[in-house]
Amino acid sequence: MRTVTFHIKRYDPARDAQGSTRVQSFEIPHGGQLTVLEGLFYIQEKLDASLAFRYCCRASICGSCAMYINGRYRLACQTNVLHLHTDEVRIEPLPHMPLVKDLVCDMTDFFAKYEYIRPWLIRSSEAPAKEILQSQADRHKLNMPIDCILCGCCYSSCPSVWSEEHYLGPHALLWAYRFEVDSRDEARKERLPMWDNERGVYRCHTITNCVEACPKELNPTEGIQWLKMAAVRRRLFGASK
Ligand code: SF4
Ligand code: FES
Repeated sequence: MRTVTFHIKRYDPARDAQGSTRVQSFEIPHGGQLTVLEGLFYIQEKLDASLAFRYCCRASICGSCAMYINGRYRLACQTNVLHLHTDEVRIEPLPHMPLVKDLVCDMTDFFAKYEYIRPWLIRSSEAPAKEILQSQADRHKLNMPIDCILCGCCYSSCPSVWSEEHYLGPHALLWAYRFEVDSRDEARKERLPMWDNERGVYRCHTITNCVEACPKELNPTEGIQWLKMAAVRRRLFGASK
């Protein structure tokens, strides 16, 4: 049986002064295959039931288990300790996010900004009797942005988010892009003022931390640059819809 040591950054608002964290280490036995999330379950079940962390799907789909593991943004359920090539694993909550407890961050602003861009299809024409068909080329445009699982890694990694609390952030702008390129959406005119401003796309300085941080290997910066060009096209040639 092998062992791995988790060094976990902890914060308990009931016992720690605000903003002060401590690191606690736990040794975990495993048979060679262990994800970081499974290691956290072991700690919670056998060593310290007070350890707080989020998870849901255990399959890299829900985005809940995003953490900072050995100096990189990762999903705990997707990270096998074998692939870290070390028996010492440092686990921290998403940096630059307000802390609730241990590995749990406050995602209120993150989801409020996502909701602000109205992340659903908006149609002005009458509801069709059947599904709205798309060409393969139009569907292809959605391939990258629809893989976003709203994990928060890009948001946590972005210096523009750190410096401007009202900046929508790479995730919300990626979703704005997702509806901008969706051939079925009919609200481009109404959507434009949401992101064509200083708290939207112009606050992105193409630092590309989001691209490096994204555990789904998406490219929010590419979407944001596309939106900037769309805004210029609108000014020159007018809105399409
Ligand atoms: Fe997470 Fe990537 Fe979506 Fe950002 S773009 S929320 S890092 S999946
Ligand atoms: Fe859902 Fe990890 S538990 S992404």
